[in-house]
Amino acid sequence: MKLGILISGRGSNMVALIDAVKSGEIPASKVAVVISDKPKAAGLAKARERGVETVVIERHGRTREEHDAEIISELNKRGVELVCLAGYMRLLSPSFVRSFPNRIINIHPSLLPAYPGLGVHERILAAGEKTSGCTVHYVNEHLDAGPIILQREVPVLDSDTPETLAARILEQEHGLYVEAIRNIVSVP
Ligand code: GRF
Repeated sequence: MKLGILISGRGSNMVALIDAVKSGEIPASKVAVVISDKPKAAGLAKARERGVETVVIERHGRTREEHDAEIISELNKRGVELVCLAGYMRLLSPSFVRSFPNRIINIHPSLLPAYPGLGVHERILAAGEKTSGCTVHYVNEHLDAGPIILQREVPVLDSDTPETLAARILEQEHGLYVEAIRNIVSVP
């Protein structure tokens, strides 16, 4: 299966996916392209170091649909079959979602439907939650709202700061995202 990964930043989930494809942990697949809407995304260099083609597509004041149309075209040119959002900080337009039905997935650092959106770990700590985690889900045009594929729980410690909690969850995200994609590509 040809994967396309969309990023906006650091790209640690992207690296986990590229490495899992290379090692065969995600079988019979190829990362065809990494696309970033941010030219300074640190993940771009990490993708290139791993021999994966990268493309930067900035919004440049265009409408969401116009920006997405260019991304869709780059994905289609390379025959991408599964779009993996990995820290991509934009909501997708309905036309993007319709272009890849049930073929766009995302990872989010909470147990959805609890705590969608940004600032998750601050909100979890403020609410006194004892458990958090991460979720891989299908993407629709609503924020962090599509059907859930897999989740993993992570304990919240009394001593946690948003940073320590984020780091403990991120460690689990990498394995969870690989597991979810391995399941998807293994379905005949
Ligand atoms: C991760 O916490 C992911 O769940 C969220 O954005 C963060 C991206 O981190 N959607 P990275 O760029 O994969 O390191």
